[in-house]
Amino acid sequence: MNILLIGSGAREHAIARAVNRSPQPTMLYCIATSKNPGIQSLCTGYSIDDINDPLAIVKYSKSCRIDLAIIGPESPLAAGAADTLWDNGVPCVGPKQKMAQIETSKAFTRNLLAKYNVPGGPHYRFFNSLDGVQDYLKELGDLYVVKYDGLMGGKGVKVAGDHLHSHAEATQYCRELADAGKSFVIEEKLIGEEFSLMSFSDGKNLAHMPVVQDHKRAFEGDTGPNTGGMGSYSDADHSLPFLKSSDIEAARAINLATINALEDEFGQGYKGILYGGFIATKDGVKLIEYNARFGDPEGLNVLAILKSDFVAICQAIINGNLNQNMAEFSRRATVCKYAVPAGYPDLPVKNQRIDISKIKNPDQLYLAAVNQRKDGLYETGSRTAAVVGIAPTLAEAEVMAQEEVGRIAGPVFHRKDIGTAQLVKRRIDHMKRLLGD
Ligand code: AMP
Ligand code: GLY
Repeated sequence: MNILLIGSGAREHAIARAVNRSPQPTMLYCIATSKNPGIQSLCTGYSIDDINDPLAIVKYSKSCRIDLAIIGPESPLAAGAADTLWDNGVPCVGPKQKMAQIETSKAFTRNLLAKYNVPGGPHYRFFNSLDGVQDYLKELGDLYVVKYDGLMGGKGVKVAGDHLHSHAEATQYCRELADAGKSFVIEEKLIGEEFSLMSFSDGKNLAHMPVVQDHKRAFEGDTGPNTGGMGSYSDADHSLPFLKSSDIEAARAINLATINALEDEFGQGYKGILYGGFIATKDGVKLIEYNARFGDPEGLNVLAILKSDFVAICQAIINGNLNQNMAEFSRRATVCKYAVPAGYPDLPVKNQRIDISKIKNPDQLYLAAVNQRKDGLYETGSRTAAVVGIAPTLAEAEVMAQEEVGRIAGPVFHRKDIGTAQLVKRRIDHMKRLLGD
């Protein structure tokens, strides 16, 4: 079977490894914007091209006689790569453009969930001018979030208390968006602990993955600017230390209700990975956002412990016969830490050489924004490389990840606190305070 992977970050490196572990005979091809040597070493063919051009993807796919395509990042989904692949007879893991709006449009998602009575949505309102903004901010008081209604790499969301410190500042951001002709959503700010629940979807049936907690802020103690995610952890029991099993059940039910809503709305199923960004609050589990793909880094945590045949899961997604038993995960804790360029995310150094020769477990090193040149590996400005520690307990997995990430030499830094007992305890205490325990 010839499989095409679209994208070349750490998430796609994890997907490539999962394909490679399949007992089925497969040949992997990759189309990407840069040369990731980690992925390339697992591939029969590798093409550097514009992955946001569906026709370029189809052209490469035809030349390699691809049987199945897997789309890693959101931008090709937003560009309609899945539609064009299906139209050309290539089955695809990754939703079609209309359904990928679950990630690409905040207003689409909030309206869909409201229309189909999917629980977990905060109060929200949609705007494309300043009309009514003042009144709605007044109604929400100090608890508001302003979100640009499109893809902005996580930078379009501004949260009261973190990025916005008054209604005047919030209005100014709304004005910038409105003046640029951009629509936006203002919604209630939810207080709690965030977690990600990713589910494989064949359009009707879901197979859920273990829940994971990401760390969006750049610096230790959850300070500094937002990033794509500095690291993440999952626990051996497939829950998280601050969650109850009823929280996971609630999140699973919301993902399933959303898949049903999408099928009702479009008359066809969502085939791919549905990533729910949830928050456990004093009033139960709420939905912050959806993504239409594996999380990066969360995908690394779960794929690293996937025991089942990933290719068989992809086939079931295509064929519509997915079930939970097809996605079995080891009962082990995982901690993922990213090394990122010095100065990331605001002023990252670029084109600097890194040295990964001291890494002890190369199988759990995932290359991301790097470029292989003749004289070595260069960081390109976004997150550089991730490592995953896998162990019976979180504490052991954290030590493994911490020691390993420190072996990546060059102008990089990482968050030492991710997965540590101290930070996990803060999460547990926060949740206890909210619940009044
Ligand atoms: P999003 O792009 O929607 O995931 O938003 C990025 C980040 O902003 C989330 O991971 C949250 O930390 C924060 N955020 C977004 N919406 C809300 C909300 N309604 N309440 C609290 N925090 C939010
Ligand atoms: N880890 C956040 C994301 O993948 O969007």
